[in-house]
Amino acid sequence: MNKTAQNTIPVIAVDGPSASGKGTVAQLVADKLGFGYLDSGALYRVVAFATKQNGIDWHNAEAVAACARKLDIQFKNEQIYLNNTDISELIRTEEMSKGASQVAVHAPLRAALIDLQHKFRQAPGLVADGRDMGTVIFPDAELKIFLTASTETRAERRYKQLLGKGLPANYANILLDLQERDARDKGRASAPLVMAADAILLETDNLTIAEAVNTVLQNFEHKKLNKNCK
Ligand code: DC
Repeated sequence: MNKTAQNTIPVIAVDGPSASGKGTVAQLVADKLGFGYLDSGALYRVVAFATKQNGIDWHNAEAVAACARKLDIQFKNEQIYLNNTDISELIRTEEMSKGASQVAVHAPLRAALIDLQHKFRQAPGLVADGRDMGTVIFPDAELKIFLTASTETRAERRYKQLLGKGLPANYANILLDLQERDARDKGRASAPLVMAADAILLETDNLTIAEAVNTVLQNFEHKKLNKNCK
């Protein structure tokens, strides 16, 4: 498909801070609409994982980007593969959360991942979740949502999630870690976490997942109706 035709395919951009629940919400919205789903954070996690495996320092921007350009990353049936090995679980550790946030500050790495992300824009549509979906990667997205919750709510959710998986969890450490990651994601020079001017703010502290999903779907319907009336 040529670029112009691809640019007419609708995108719903769901951005927000770590552990805001945007991944769960974005995936459910995609399922409801029969759209594809891009978990852009997973790409940064894979890069953190692969560079660590290759002994590359996460602070070395050029080496990290060069490694990323050579990676064979595939998404299949909600699993993520690196060189044909399923690494879906290995990239979800707290170490890789931190590593992803560290490698994500590098402009050459962000540039190296742009084309790969654009390729996810396939008919009938895409729900893309991340930090810069609405601001940098899909600035023409049909609907932009900025999904957030207080740091305490997010820390509590992550805490319960870890306990639910039978993993060790310490609320105070999780809270500190989230604050550190928020500061890095918001403070970096390249594509920082910021709400797009035309995004809709969705605060989920007092919303269930189903309510958040419905709000996104209603806003999408609304946008489509408005477009048809123009
Ligand atoms: O969404 P996540 O927690 O899986 O993302 C992991 C890290 O990747 C996050 O701390 C910042 C980075 N990231 C980014 O910089 N840009 C994106 N579009 C998605 C994630």
